[in-house]
Amino acid sequence: MISEQLEKIREEAIRQISQSEGLDKLNEIRVSVLGKKGELTGILKSMKDVAPEDRPKVGQLVNETREAIEKVLEETKAKMEAAARDAKLKAEVIDVTLPAKKNKVGHNHPNNVALEELERIFIGMGYEVAEGPEVERDYYNFEALNIPADHPAKDEQDTFYISGDILLRTQTSSTQVHEMEKGKLPIKMIAPGRVFRADEVDATHSPSFHQVEGLVIDKDVTFADLKGTLAEFAKQLFGPDTKTKFRPHHFPFTEPSAEMDVSCFKCGGKGCRFCKGEGWIEILGCGMVHPHVLEMSGIDPNEYTGFAFGVGLERIALLKYEIDDMRLLYENDIRFLNQF
Ligand code: DAH
Repeated sequence: MISEQLEKIREEAIRQISQSEGLDKLNEIRVSVLGKKGELTGILKSMKDVAPEDRPKVGQLVNETREAIEKVLEETKAKMEAAARDAKLKAEVIDVTLPAKKNKVGHNHPNNVALEELERIFIGMGYEVAEGPEVERDYYNFEALNIPADHPAKDEQDTFYISGDILLRTQTSSTQVHEMEKGKLPIKMIAPGRVFRADEVDATHSPSFHQVEGLVIDKDVTFADLKGTLAEFAKQLFGPDTKTKFRPHHFPFTEPSAEMDVSCFKCGGKGCRFCKGEGWIEILGCGMVHPHVLEMSGIDPNEYTGFAFGVGLERIALLKYEIDDMRLLYENDIRFLNQF
């Protein structure tokens, strides 16, 4: 009897399904029972032996059996998939209560903190930030700045020569020449950068340090502009009560030249250990750009005048953050840097 055969196929299939482990096995069962060459299909093929009036009934039975087996197959498959998902999630469990590892992060260098402050101040006064090469020709570092080959100032700045007239710049003043040569006037720029001198390392010297150069060239620029600008700069950098004092000095590329002192921001000018009892602290060199320097770079000194200044960046950082040894700035010890 076909109905008994069908019943047997169904029971056997369900038994196999209940014992199967894994989706592959399940698929094998599906093929062997419901596939083209499967048992159930075999029964359909033998329909020709069934009496025509019984065929609809048998057909319906076969369909019911197929549906019953398919239903169990689907349910089992869904269970297996759910179990696999659970297992995967379990394996991926993270213990969020575990203490975290702390990442070590770096810290802004006092030089950079000071530079950002300087740039902020001058950009606020309408200056642009320029840059020049660290490897220079003698011409840009010396000659075009009114320091001819036999000038004694050349001795003061022990120069690292690379070859012939190629050298490591001893001062950012060389960027003044590059900016003037561009031929675009007026100029109002600062140029921060690294400079090099054959100096022994000690608490106040290093063979490589940083300067910030300033240059303003326009019609009718006077020494009063220089004084006003730098006095305002000192107030913004060291506090609104800061006084400034200009002492005559000599630089080959400026005439007249001066050094600027600020009133000691520790004692307010009374004199203390910080300012070595002076009440004043020297912070930069400056002056009116020498007419000969303007001329050499193609600017007519009868039409244009200008002022320039040069600040030691390390010096500002040491003063502002009260660091007493320049070597600390180059060791990059994070315990030191973290304090700024
Ligand atoms: N270049 C000078 C130095 O390294 C500093 C300096 C002084 C720059 C006066 C200037 C200036 O622009 O006007 O000692």
